[in-house]
Amino acid sequence: MSSNDISNPSSILRATSSIGLPILPFSENALEPTISAKTLSFHYGKHHKGYVDNLNKLISGTDYSDLSLEKIITSTHDRPERKSIFNNASQIWNHTFYWNSLKEKGGGAPPSGIKTLIDTSFGGVAECKKALAEAALSQFGSGWAWLVIDDGQLKVVKSANADSPLTTTVKPLLTIDVWEHAYYLDYQNRRADYVNALLDNLINWDFALQNLS
Ligand code: FE2
Repeated sequence: MSSNDISNPSSILRATSSIGLPILPFSENALEPTISAKTLSFHYGKHHKGYVDNLNKLISGTDYSDLSLEKIITSTHDRPERKSIFNNASQIWNHTFYWNSLKEKGGGAPPSGIKTLIDTSFGGVAECKKALAEAALSQFGSGWAWLVIDDGQLKVVKSANADSPLTTTVKPLLTIDVWEHAYYLDYQNRRADYVNALLDNLINWDFALQNLS
């Protein structure tokens, strides 16, 4: 199994197509105190790696072993008999996208290239963050909140379990993992505290801008 460098977000397609465990784009303590090194170690080293290991076992010796990660996801999402393959493949992709959606000393003001779009779509950065937080908090059970672009307009959507916008017509720009494993060690049941701290301190607007192009 190969590792891939995802420190450059533009390499994400290459990183995920080999179905290896991508290298984190930051050190495990880089997101403290918002996300502890302990949480990051379990989240990346156990959960993300677990999805990679599971998928490789599931597709070994099958036609799926020759496909890119994205192709595996899009070709299994509507096939209930392939649910285990879809779930593990999509969770690998979602987590790689999540790591890139965060950065040390993130948050703050978005770059001008996306701020104008945020203003026209939501009425301001605060309103955009509020919409993301509301999606993250209203997702019942495990899932994800996403900033996406849909026909030139920024929107917020949410997905359950392993689902993502990758199987829809909208393009994802940022995501927030709201599975309990993302925050429980640090915040216990206080999902709102995790989400708001992440938006204020870690969200990577540069990654969202890069995904616009
Ligand atoms: Fe996760």
